[in-house]
Amino acid sequence: MTNEDQPAIDLKVDVAHPARMYDYYLGGKDNYEADRAAAEAALAAAPELRAIARENRAFLHRAVRHLVDSGVRQFLDLGAGLPTQRNVHEVAQEIAPETRVVYVDSDPIVLVHARALLNGLGRTAVVQADVREPERILADEQVRSLIDFDQPLAVMLVSVLQFVPDREPEDIVAPLRDAMPSGGYLVVSHPTQDFRTSQVNEVASTYTRAKAPAVARRKSEIERIFDGFEVLEPGIVQTPLWRPDGPVTPNLDLIWMYGAVGRKP
Ligand SMILES: C[S@@+](CC[C@H](N)C(=O)[O-])C[C@H]1O[C@@H](n2cnc3c(N)ncnc32)[C@H](O)[C@@H]1O
Repeated sequence: MTNEDQPAIDLKVDVAHPARMYDYYLGGKDNYEADRAAAEAALAAAPELRAIARENRAFLHRAVRHLVDSGVRQFLDLGAGLPTQRNVHEVAQEIAPETRVVYVDSDPIVLVHARALLNGLGRTAVVQADVREPERILADEQVRSLIDFDQPLAVMLVSVLQFVPDREPEDIVAPLRDAMPSGGYLVVSHPTQDFRTSQVNEVASTYTRAKAPAVARRKSEIERIFDGFEVLEPGIVQTPLWRPDGPVTPNLDLIWMYGAVGRKP
């Protein structure tokens, strides 16, 4: 499919979008005034959001490298976000060029940017869909054309389930888990309200005011996301503590984001 085939997309630049707010935290340029205003309000409540975003990306990179080293050659990245430095396919294909990656996001602007980046690469695709509809994602033609559900694959839900406050995350994961073979992986990061609770709740209110309701969950709730998986060592931990490459430098009192990787037995 070429870019010319795509229907015109309303980017709704007057409304803040989580993807573009996250891009702003990471120092990207794909954001608009409404996104920056909402992001600044969130940063006023919790200036550590930039560090949390950076640590989240670093966790994602380490998890992808670990999985490729473990033999995974297919990634389904749900809530993929705007292309930024070192996307999943770049990290994975550096080690194993044959790795296939499907990016899924509900935000049309992600689609516009991702298609521009990925067009013609062949081993990557981008699909617009909502994680609330896992069955639709599993049945999607582009997903099926790149992902073989009989072979090991990794489903990534990195920093996205907080944007589904109205559903139990384990209900979203269950069909994805059932569709994967034994030896499939689940990668999740999720903000928590286990500490810095008032700041976290203030950030959540900022998102709600920006029409992107979000919820931080307790560790016990995040544990349930891994129902039916064996959680790899070191378990569900603050993102910088997941298999760090070197000394852990961030102030852990401020990193209210857990990360974990599970393997379907
Ligand atoms: C904070 S970004 C995370 C990006 C990337 N996964 C990462 O961790 O760096 C959250 C992304 O989830 C997307 N998103 C939010 N709600 C979604 C939903 N219901 N379905 C699909 N994507 C969603 C947003 O558009 C945004 O791109």
